[in-house]
Amino acid sequence: MIQRIAIIGLGTMGPGMAARLARGGLQVTAYDVAPAAIERARTMLGTAEGVLDALGIVATGAGSVRFTDDINEAVSGADLIIENVPENIAIKAEVYRSIDGLIASDTIVASDTSGIPITQLQAHISHPERMVGMHWSNPPHIIPMIEVIGGERTAPQTVTTIRDLIRSIGLLPVVVKKDVPGFVENRVLYALLREAVDLVERGVIEPEDLDTCVSWGIGYKIAVVGPMALLDMAGLDIYKSVSSFLNADLSNRDDVAPMVLEKTGASKLGIKSGEGMFSYTPEQTKALQAERARKLVAVRRILEGRE
Ligand SMILES: NC(=O)c1ccc[n+]([C@@H]2O[C@H](COP(=O)([O-])OP(=O)(O)OC[C@H]3O[C@@H](n4cnc5c(N)ncnc54)[C@H](O)[C@@H]3O)[C@@H](O)[C@H]2O)c1
Repeated sequence: MIQRIAIIGLGTMGPGMAARLARGGLQVTAYDVAPAAIERARTMLGTAEGVLDALGIVATGAGSVRFTDDINEAVSGADLIIENVPENIAIKAEVYRSIDGLIASDTIVASDTSGIPITQLQAHISHPERMVGMHWSNPPHIIPMIEVIGGERTAPQTVTTIRDLIRSIGLLPVVVKKDVPGFVENRVLYALLREAVDLVERGVIEPEDLDTCVSWGIGYKIAVVGPMALLDMAGLDIYKSVSSFLNADLSNRDDVAPMVLEKTGASKLGIKSGEGMFSYTPEQTKALQAERARKLVAVRRILEGRE
C-alpha cells in the first residue's frame, strides 16, 4: 500500500501534484536540486491548495507536504517516487542513478515524462519491473486524468498498483496498453497542434480565429462527448465519406514547422518570454492564469454534475 511519496523536481508540475496527493491523504516529500525552485514551489503549493478548495476537493486523511533539499531524506522510506525533472533522458537517467542505492527494491519509481517511452527510461534503473509512466496533465491539481504506462520490463502489478492509487484518491487513471512515444494524450494533442499550426502558417486563418474555432467548435463539445462517442454521434458513414478525401489533405509534415523554428529562434517562446503566438505583459499573464484556473474549476464542477 502506498502512503509515502517523494516528488523529485518542483517546476511547473511538481507543486500542484504534491498538493493533490496530500489532499488524498498521502505523505509527500518534495525535493528539487535548485533552492530557488523549492522556494517558488512553496508559494505554488499554497495557490494549488486554494484551487483545490474552490474545486470542493476535501482532504481524506492526514496528508502532508514536506519540502527538503536533501535527496536522501526525500526518497528514503518512500513507497513511490515520482520523477518530475526536465524532459531529457540524460537528466532523468542521472536522477535514477542517484536514487538507486537509496531506495528499497520494492519502491515504485514513476516518471511524469510527457512521452519518452518507459522502456528507454527503465534501462537506467536496477529494478525495471518497478518502473512505470505516470503522466499527469497540466495543471496537475485541476486535470483529473492521469495516463499509466508500463514499459517492456514493467511488472503488470506495478501498473495495477499505480492505477489503483490514482483511483483511490478520486482521480481518473487511463492505462495505455502499448509504450508508444507520446502515449495517447500527447499523440492526439500533437495531431491537432500540427494541423492548427499548418493552417495558421498557410494563412488559412488568423491565430485568434483558429482558437475560437477549435475551443467553441470542438473543445467545448469534446469535453462532453469524447472522440469515439463523437464518431457515433456524427455517424460512421459521414466519417467514412469525409475522411475518404480529407485525410489525404491534412498536414503530414514530419519535421518542425518553419513558423515554430522562426519564433523559437527569435526567443519568442510564449508566456514565459512575453511573446509567442500572441504577446503578453506581466499583468496580462497574471490575469490570464487566474482567469484560466477559475474557468477550468467552473467547467470541471459542471462536468462532474456538482453545480
Ligand atoms: N509542463 C507540462 O505541461 C507537463 C505536463 C505533463 C508532463 N510534463 C513532464 O513533467 C516533467 C517535468 O516538467 P515541468 O514542466 O514540471 O519541468 P520544469 O522545467 O518546469 O521543472 C523541472 C524541475 O526539475 C528540477 N530539476 C532539474 N534537475 C533535477 C535533478 N537532478 N534533481 C531534482 N530536480 C531537478 C529543476 O530545478 C526544475 O525545478 C517533464 O518530463 C515533462 O515532460 C510536463
